[in-house]
Amino acid sequence: GRSLIEPLNFSVEEMEGLFELAERIEAKPAEYKECCRGNILATLFFEPSTRTRLSFEAAMLRLGGSCLGFAEPGSSSASKGECLADTVRTVACYADAIVMRNPKEGAALLASRYSDVPVINAGDGGHHHPTQTLTDLLTIKRLRGDIKNLTVGFCGDLKFGRTVHSLVKALARYPGIRMVFVSPSELTIPNYLKTGILAEKKIPFTETDSLDKVMESLDILYMTRVQRERFFNEEDYIRLKDSYILTPERMEPAKKDMMILHPLPRVNEIALEVDADPRAAYFKQAKFGMFVRMALLSSILGAV
Ligand code: CP
Repeated sequence: GRSLIEPLNFSVEEMEGLFELAERIEAKPAEYKECCRGNILATLFFEPSTRTRLSFEAAMLRLGGSCLGFAEPGSSSASKGECLADTVRTVACYADAIVMRNPKEGAALLASRYSDVPVINAGDGGHHHPTQTLTDLLTIKRLRGDIKNLTVGFCGDLKFGRTVHSLVKALARYPGIRMVFVSPSELTIPNYLKTGILAEKKIPFTETDSLDKVMESLDILYMTRVQRERFFNEEDYIRLKDSYILTPERMEPAKKDMMILHPLPRVNEIALEVDADPRAAYFKQAKFGMFVRMALLSSILGAV
């Protein structure tokens, strides 16, 4: 079977195929409710999660399959010192696919080398989160009709934000994309993306620390949380955590059809009053996440 470790593991055409399948599943769920019967998905989450884990589990259950996983991040034998390779080799004997989140960059790739079944990366440290990218792209496609000719602003922790890194890589393959990176100088987008995929695909981009200055130019605003768990010291986190707070006043110069995305969880970076704005798409995004994971699982397990 096919693993998904980072977004470029799937071609644009393959991703588009998943989006079409996700749409068919959403429209006619009854046709897919038995397609993974007899299959078991293992969810190995070594970091907390609400959306990714529960949407994967809901996806598998809605396809007629079953799930297993440990109760909380610290409750597997990894806490006794078992190495990841041994954990994965073992779990691959019990399950037909593994979804894994781990605080270490590269953990999912390593796991895929020791697993006899497909491994899906549900987040490896500050590196990648490819199924969030599938969720983000499906949301853009469903709400805008297509993914092209867009100015996309990324705001917040662009240094450690794995959802940003994955989305930047995937979006760079679509036509007419411009990117605006908004962050404090300590949390700028990594150089490897600027000199790598953005240079290779000739994506025009700008960097700024002012959201207000660029708000009116954006078609999509991708907000992210400043992540306490990625900081080495609390002082830096406290200084930077409220760098950008999206409020109705701040939204005033924005385009009338600008879309606000956020992978969630949010902490303080989008004021609750913004939720009532029709441009706020982040809870729709969370829902699309389940359908695209249904498409991914049924396709990886050879059920469709
Ligand atoms: N978007 C996302 O990965 O959310 P969780 O951390 O709740 O899974």
